[in-house]
Amino acid sequence: MSPSPPYILGIGGTTRVGSSSEFVLRSALARIEDLGVATRCVAGPDLVLPIYEAGAADRSQAAAALVALMRDSAGVVIASPGYHGTISGLVKNALDYAEDLAGDPSPYLSGKPVGCIACAYGWQATGSTLATLRTVAHALRGWPTPLGIAVNSLALASGPHSSLPPEIDASLNILAGQMVERLVLC
Ligand SMILES: Cc1cc2nc3c(=O)[nH]c(=O)nc-3n(C[C@H](O)[C@H](O)[C@H](O)COP(=O)(O)O)c2cc1C
Repeated sequence: MSPSPPYILGIGGTTRVGSSSEFVLRSALARIEDLGVATRCVAGPDLVLPIYEAGAADRSQAAAALVALMRDSAGVVIASPGYHGTISGLVKNALDYAEDLAGDPSPYLSGKPVGCIACAYGWQATGSTLATLRTVAHALRGWPTPLGIAVNSLALASGPHSSLPPEIDASLNILAGQMVERLVLC
């Protein structure tokens, strides 16, 4: 049996219908696919997992699936809303499950590219949220792409998401390219 092709895993969004962070996450993954790399996504309500319990013997089915997807991924794109100036509990709890990769031969996200996207209602929380995402990526031994993306959700707020502002569109293309470039280098 041939090994399955490498994929980039998207994690993020909120449980809110019309979540801007999920929309931008899926847009990033679409651009990565355009570059010929497969993707998977665990977003929005699928991130509603039990609070991570260190040392617990059992994991829920969904949590175990997320851990397996992180383990087998070639890279990760994380998109979080800015909640009270930082990443949301939903996204952080999902990332806490990476602790179950601590004992792997290649622990956590060792050497993998990590694309970071922060969406907030205004600019102030985008910077702190993006900085936190990049700190988490470093802590997990991943390689944050040189470009992280800050999205002011106000720019996406009018009507259904059918198009992205040109600067976000261009940034997503760069992020996708940097994710794929790092895969090629590994
Ligand atoms: C609990 C909560 C806290 C928030 N805190 C902030 C904040 O500190 N700064 C900010 O700009 N927006 C804040 N927001 C707004 C969200 O960042 C913004 O609406 C974002 O687009 C939500 O992501 P979503 O569209 O994917 O649901 C907050 C929203 C919620 C629900």
